[in-house]
Amino acid sequence: MRISVTLLQYEHGIVRQTIDVLAEVVKGGRAPERKADVEELMSFLLDYLDRFHHAKEEECFFPQVVNYFPKFKEDVDGIYDDHVEARELLEAGIKALDEEDWETFNSLSMKVVHHMTAHVEKEENNIFPTVDEDLPLEVDEAMNQCYQDFLRNFGEDYYQKAEMFANEIQDRLLGPGFFDKGIY
Ligand SMILES: [Fe+2]
Ligand SMILES: [Fe+2]
Repeated sequence: MRISVTLLQYEHGIVRQTIDVLAEVVKGGRAPERKADVEELMSFLLDYLDRFHHAKEEECFFPQVVNYFPKFKEDVDGIYDDHVEARELLEAGIKALDEEDWETFNSLSMKVVHHMTAHVEKEENNIFPTVDEDLPLEVDEAMNQCYQDFLRNFGEDYYQKAEMFANEIQDRLLGPGFFDKGIY
């Protein structure tokens, strides 16, 4: 186990949770009536996903992955392209929401959902298992230092705030306990 990987997996949990909320709202055709809440959700996604999670992966994680596991060079190039595409989809979605172009907003939102689901699976199934097993421990340590320095730009309580927001927006948009149904 490597802490550098575990932390990214934890972050993916919040990504999954919030894009699931977006998917449910869009599939239910409820974005127009919940515009203000959806705006909050989209702006959280742009901040958390693009400015925080993807930027941190690019600054602290993937450069070392390519260094130690050159076989992943092409995959990592693809991952960087995915990050750009996620940002572009989110920005275009926010614009469509602002303009109340619901058809475009719904279609872009579902693209974000499918794109991010596939992206997270690519990282978790293809790259993380090798890193988790074979990354030298001192490199894992250096990555964690990099994560901590990176986190400082967002505030030490950013994780706590993000987790609270994810739970709160889920309850607000879908009703309390929505994703608990059928899991336990
Ligand atoms: Fe990523
Ligand atoms: Fe990721």
